[in-house]
Amino acid sequence: MKKRIAIFASGSGSNAQKIMEHFKRSSEAEVVLILTNNPQAYVLQRADNFEIPAHIFTRQEFYDTDNVIRLLKNLQVDLIVLAGFLWLVPATLLKAFPNKIINLHPALLPKYGGKGMYGDHVHNAVLAAKEEESGITIHFVNEHFDEGEILHQSKFKIEPGDNLEMIKFKGQQLEHQHFPRVIENLLKKMKS
Ligand code: GAR
Repeated sequence: MKKRIAIFASGSGSNAQKIMEHFKRSSEAEVVLILTNNPQAYVLQRADNFEIPAHIFTRQEFYDTDNVIRLLKNLQVDLIVLAGFLWLVPATLLKAFPNKIINLHPALLPKYGGKGMYGDHVHNAVLAAKEEESGITIHFVNEHFDEGEILHQSKFKIEPGDNLEMIKFKGQQLEHQHFPRVIENLLKKMKS
């Protein structure tokens, strides 16, 4: 049986798109559900384009009920992928899927992580610190923002004159290139 992936995303979902594209052709795994806290998120359109079902949840549903856990269990999800998902994962969900939740972060953790560090906030902090390099991190999720065990990092150079748009672009290129493959390798290692 194919391994089953669920993706959480809060916004555009360009990484979700790359993952859906990658596994559409796979005999090993498939994306079975997209979840979002944001009814306006463009990721919903992308899910629709791939004919993958989506679930929109509220803060109350996510933190005060077991609905999301039940949905994921009913679908027999093997791996949960956070791709631009901005809410902290509740302890109940972590407990229900131990070592089965991974996150993508747009910097080289442990630097530039933690609460409030997402998207442009991260890149602006990297620029303000005059770093000579930045990159991406894919890591297991625990009860703290951006602190679980690191699975993968890749880096790019920041050239003099690089602005926010440029480093965002360089980071996104790496994300799109590596994230689907890291997921595939992790799934291969996971026992069924
Ligand atoms: C990605 O760059 C991801 O690294 C970042 O959100 C973006 C989502 O882009 N995640 C975080 O900042 C999490 N702290 P996408 O919606 O186009 O995939």
